[in-house]
Amino acid sequence: MNYIQTTIDSSIAVIKICREPQLNALNKNVIEQLSKELDKLKLSNKVRVVIITGSGKKAFVAGADIKEFSNYNVEQGRELSRIGQKNLFDKIENYNKPVIAAINGYALGGGLELALSCHIRIASSNSKMGLPECSLGLIPGYGGTQRLVRILGPSRAYEMILTSQIIDADFAEKTGIINYQTSMEELIPLAKKIAQSCIKNSPKALEAAIKCINKNFDNSGLKFEQNEFGSLFETDEFKEGVSAFLEKRRPNF
Ligand code: CAA
Repeated sequence: MNYIQTTIDSSIAVIKICREPQLNALNKNVIEQLSKELDKLKLSNKVRVVIITGSGKKAFVAGADIKEFSNYNVEQGRELSRIGQKNLFDKIENYNKPVIAAINGYALGGGLELALSCHIRIASSNSKMGLPECSLGLIPGYGGTQRLVRILGPSRAYEMILTSQIIDADFAEKTGIINYQTSMEELIPLAKKIAQSCIKNSPKALEAAIKCINKNFDNSGLKFEQNEFGSLFETDEFKEGVSAFLEKRRPNF
């Protein structure tokens, strides 16, 4: 099954994640297809900026696919995080061209983490963002414990993660999680306008700038996150958190 759709126009590639019935949740196939597409676009001289968005008007990405990992053991949980980080999230952060997240609704868990890996984030005004993994008996496993802290500082990042707070676009704009918010209709046009501002600059300089900016960040915590994420997989609390999601009820921890 094909879960992504790419259109290229005026040197801008728009990758749309197309798994709308599951709110564009990231299963293994989506991650693999996104990863391969990014590898391809990396080498294309027809593309100077990449925009990532979700299909529909409800969700950018509602997280990693909870149904897919609901029966994973510790080792599988750790691998899920390691492979996802390596093949997608780190790849985006260290991409050779600017990557813009156009958040069109829910960006939760792995969905917000996907946006946090991008270099620039904008969102439609209906968007809701959060890292609610602790409500599933988990923690963010795609870099959220590291990348959110860089933007928000520890106080607000602790609050968001420890309370599973879901924030709106106003709060996200005010705190710098997103650069701008706009209407749903204007989301892709605005992303393209920002992309055009990048395109007028030197591609080699952009690549070097991304590398240098990333040198500010110590990513040693990502491996630690993978281990901690995995270690939660066989706990009773993980089982309760995931069962509660699947049964559409609140967990009882
Ligand atoms: N994984 C798998 N399926 C998901 C999903 C996810 N993350 N998010 C939504 N879906 C599915 C739902 O199960 C539902 O499918 P069915 O129709 O088959 O039941 C469908 O998408 C529509 O979702 P809802 O019925 O729940 O829609 P809603 O409007 O009532 O609620 C929502 C929307 C608040 C986003 C809710 O779907 C939700 O809370 N989703 C999960 C958010 C979440 O916890 N994300 C973190 C995932 S864990 C993670 O990402 C780990 C990591 O860091 C690596």
